[in-house]
Amino acid sequence: MVPTMADLQLTDDVPPVADDGVWLACIECGETFAPFDEIRYTCDHCDGLLEVRYDDLPTFDEFEGSGVWRYNAALPFEEGITLPEGDTPLHEMPRLKDDIGVDALRVKHEGMNPTGSFKDRGMTVGVRVAQEVGVDRLACASTGNTSAALAAYGARGGMETLVLLPAGKVAAGKIAQASLHRARILEVDGNFDQCLDIVQDLAARGEAYLLNSLNPFRLEGQKTIGLEIMEEFYADNGEYPDRIVLPVGNAGNTAALYKCFRELVKAGAITEEQVPKLTGVQAEGAAPMVEAIENGYEDTRRWDDVETRATAIRIGNPVNAPKALPGIRETGGTAVAVSDEEITEAQRDIAGEGVGVEPASAASVAGLRKLRREGEVDSDESVVCLTTGHLLKDPEAAAEAGNEPEPVANSTEAVLDLIEEPSSVTETIRRQASKAADAPLVPALVASGLGVAYLYRKLRSKK
Ligand code: F0G
Repeated sequence: MVPTMADLQLTDDVPPVADDGVWLACIECGETFAPFDEIRYTCDHCDGLLEVRYDDLPTFDEFEGSGVWRYNAALPFEEGITLPEGDTPLHEMPRLKDDIGVDALRVKHEGMNPTGSFKDRGMTVGVRVAQEVGVDRLACASTGNTSAALAAYGARGGMETLVLLPAGKVAAGKIAQASLHRARILEVDGNFDQCLDIVQDLAARGEAYLLNSLNPFRLEGQKTIGLEIMEEFYADNGEYPDRIVLPVGNAGNTAALYKCFRELVKAGAITEEQVPKLTGVQAEGAAPMVEAIENGYEDTRRWDDVETRATAIRIGNPVNAPKALPGIRETGGTAVAVSDEEITEAQRDIAGEGVGVEPASAASVAGLRKLRREGEVDSDESVVCLTTGHLLKDPEAAAEAGNEPEPVANSTEAVLDLIEEPSSVTETIRRQASKAADAPLVPALVASGLGVAYLYRKLRSKK
């Protein structure tokens, strides 16, 4: 089959299948489908990805209220199953801004959603659609956050939820959420991509309604991240951001943001020049999108072996790549891979300004730092980094990245003795030791000296 280019143009023709001005269109062959009559996730004819289309696209003055449903003029329903979600903070990061060296830096902290990740925005819409099409068993494959969100929104909607997780590769907080919200949790001896293969099979057999980001309605909810960023950044700065940097796994968010911007341009709310450059960041051990951007591939090539400490983005086959790659290219953005060490360092830097994020989220800041260092990002740019999940999602990673607790005897004297030592010694030594270990030019002696000092402290504190 000759691959066709993704058709992401928003046309003016309303097809007869439209229901109240809403329909589904295949981005590959252009075929259109009624939105809620039958359940489908891809095109019946060519298996291409589907996109939700509207006869009428709103400008900013049509939005009112707060949260995801403020933007209902850009969504398929007036309201959904809500907890409620959205309206997340757009933090200023003054020290990090100076340190990285950009004109403006904001962190959009999606970890402040009800279940602690941006997935809630997709689920509030997706579970509403599930109600509309009349299903009662919802399912997803997940690296963790999608399962937590699906379980919570499914519970809220009174529906049964089934989640498939890669065994041993999901952070503790996320499993705890799925479990308490009464999801049936199946731990698969395989990675996320293999879990998704199975869930797609189940959905094709009519066993469950699929709520991964392959479901085009999920992306409608996630589009509101872009709407919030644009509105709030403009209100604070009198202009839109030059660039949005985000972590990429299945590339759903990248696709959703691109759709958000295309719709705003089509509605006349912004000009093409005002569209922020979409910049995707992946972990080095799971970077098929970066590979595709660097090599000019039309689609990604599946990575069978993936590994990263940022387990949320431990993904080798981003299903939304046909929507997301044009988004990165057409907006003049780029994609970059960062090491797990760079991710941890960024997680500490963000936490140092009071904002707690999980490792995958910190990839955005790590990526920005790297691109700035390489001169890909200019010092006069205004940038928004998306942090997608809360620190408490992965408490183990947070504890490993942070300061060691110091045991102390049960007396004021002992506490005074301990705190007389210069504060943050442990942290400084640890940082220097890990930096020294990474830098081959630093004499091994210094590195091992610091290492011994660190070990000594660790042993002492364990007594
Ligand atoms: N950041 C976090 C914290 C995530 O959980 C995910 C995806 C991403 C970034 C990547 O977003 O897929 O839209 O490119 N997590 C999914 C899950 C795969 O199952 O929770 P994407």
